[in-house]
Amino acid sequence: MSAAGCRLQCTMAAGRARSGCSLRAAGAALVVVTALLAVGCSCSPWGQDDVDRLREWQERQDERLLQQQRALEERQRLSDDLSLERQYLRTDLQLHRERQQDERQTERDARLNDHQRLRDDLLQERQVEQSDRQLHRQTLQDQGLDERQQLHDELDRDREREVEDQRRAREQLSDQARRDRERTDREREREQGRREREQQRREQEREREQQRRERERDLREQRRRWRRDADDTADDKNTTATTTTVKAADPPPQPATGKSYEGAQLWRVQIADGDVANLQRVEDDGVAQIWYSNATVWDLMVSAENQPHVRKLLADNKLAYTVVIPDMQRAILDENPSLSDDELELTSRKGHRMTWQHYHRVTDMHGWLDYLANTYPSICETLVIGSSVEGRPLKVLHIKGKPGSPAMWVDGGIHAREWITSASVSYMLNELVENHDSHRAWLSAVDLYVLPLANPDGYEYSHAGDRMWRKNRRRGGGCDGIDLNRNFGYKWGGKGAGPQPCQEIYRGSAPFSEPETSAIQSFVLARKASLKSYLSFHSYGQYVLYPWGYDRFVPPDHEDLQRVGTKLANAMRATSGLSYTVGSSAALLYPASGGSDDWAKGQAGLKYAFTIELRDTGRHGFVVPSSHILSSGKEVLAAVRTLAQEVAAL
Ligand SMILES: *[C@@H]1O[C@H](CO)[C@@H](O)[C@H](O)[C@H]1NC(C)=O
Ligand SMILES: *[C@@H]1O[C@H](CO)[C@@H](O)[C@H](O)[C@H]1NC(C)=O
Repeated sequence: MSAAGCRLQCTMAAGRARSGCSLRAAGAALVVVTALLAVGCSCSPWGQDDVDRLREWQERQDERLLQQQRALEERQRLSDDLSLERQYLRTDLQLHRERQQDERQTERDARLNDHQRLRDDLLQERQVEQSDRQLHRQTLQDQGLDERQQLHDELDRDREREVEDQRRAREQLSDQARRDRERTDREREREQGRREREQQRREQEREREQQRRERERDLREQRRRWRRDADDTADDKNTTATTTTVKAADPPPQPATGKSYEGAQLWRVQIADGDVANLQRVEDDGVAQIWYSNATVWDLMVSAENQPHVRKLLADNKLAYTVVIPDMQRAILDENPSLSDDELELTSRKGHRMTWQHYHRVTDMHGWLDYLANTYPSICETLVIGSSVEGRPLKVLHIKGKPGSPAMWVDGGIHAREWITSASVSYMLNELVENHDSHRAWLSAVDLYVLPLANPDGYEYSHAGDRMWRKNRRRGGGCDGIDLNRNFGYKWGGKGAGPQPCQEIYRGSAPFSEPETSAIQSFVLARKASLKSYLSFHSYGQYVLYPWGYDRFVPPDHEDLQRVGTKLANAMRATSGLSYTVGSSAALLYPASGGSDDWAKGQAGLKYAFTIELRDTGRHGFVVPSSHILSSGKEVLAAVRTLAQEVAAL
């Protein structure tokens, strides 16, 4: 080391010492000085003061060093304490951590335990639940079984019930069948009874027929005997003349009941033209009945015994004929079949015995008229306007109109054998009364007086004595009966009416000589002011006829009659389809005086006087089967309604 170097270091060390720098710098400086002293470095510039101060400084320095040493030691001690403390703390921490860990472990263990327990509980619960469910299922199954069993039981019961029902139904059916059988048996018995009764009836009829034939044979025998006697006494007269004489002198008596028409026939004769005088005589001579005649056709009913005679007569007059009804007796038997027991029972329950399937006797018809009057007193009444020759009442049914209404007269059955007229007029009456409501409108505008049986004696006789009876039952004068439709007092005794009692068209001894006609006369004249029409039903031929009948003239208002007559015909055709010819009687048919319509028009002054000839046009003649009653009745109803409208409009 150089002296310069030595000096620098000394300065530096001194500089540091003076400036009093930091403890460490002081220490370093001390170290340096010490070292320098040790190496013999002498800083030559410094005197004794300096060395004293240096010593002093040295001493302070030492002291400071000592202090520092002590501080260091203190610090060391503190640091030791600290580290110890730290040690302690660490241990504590360790301990604490361990404890915490232990606690956490315990806690975890507890939680685990809890969990375990929970799981166990859960498991247990689940088991319990499962077993419960098992149990429930078992129960359900058991219940299902029970229900199924019940269902089975019910089904069984149902089946049993069904079987029982079926058995009962079978029993009922068999009961029913048995009852039906019994009923059928009863019916068969009844039918048997009926058939037997019918048989008996037929036998009785046959017997009666036999007796009657015997009687007739006797009569014929007697007649032949008379003829022989006459021949014996009058040699100069031939047989025909003798017969006529005998007949006129001593006509054979009518059989009391059931005149037979065995072998009789209806002949239709075609008339060429004009001269029918010979033909007219057949009726007067009693060899045939004239049922119908117009300008071209005559219907003759000829008995078996007279057929050869009439046949010859026709041949002599060159007249052709056809047989319309070959067996009159058969036709009569078929005309009016008796009512069955059922029908009879039914009718008797109604309060009267009338039907429209059968031609009834006078008592049935009169009973029914009374029934109507008693049952419907506000609609109708019966008026007895007189009585017949034999004392039967002449019963008019009055169907009442509004007070002051114009009146109409209607009758049927004035000719006994024309059964269809009384039956049809009766049907009309029944309909008007029983179904009054449906006819009220037009009925209330007229007063309707209807006499269905204008000739009750003749009608009864045509049932019980002679089906072909025409006149009333006046006795005496050689032959019974007067033709009531020749007995009215207008132009009485003119053409087409006979003066001889044995004639079918015998006019009687005087106008209105008969109680039947005079009763009508009195009744009509008493109501002359209100009566506006006179309608008389006849058969057959299908005509609507208006006056005059006595001859081929017509009244001044014939156009009105023709017009209204045409309306009637149209109304009738509308119900049945049958056509009716309209015209004045004498012109259409033949002159016949003393008829009711002529009198009503000519004497009583009723405007609308008509005679309607009902069905048919010859097929059945007067023997119209009862099955026609309804249809014919409807025609009559239509005609009366139409005429009522004309009368109301007058
Ligand atoms: C019967 O008399 C009529 C006239 O009176 C005559 O024409 C006829 O030839 C007579 N008959 C017999 C069989 O003598
Ligand atoms: C006469 O009556 C018949 C039968 O009803 C009929 O066919 C004929 O046309 C009538 N004759 C006259 C001229 O009316």
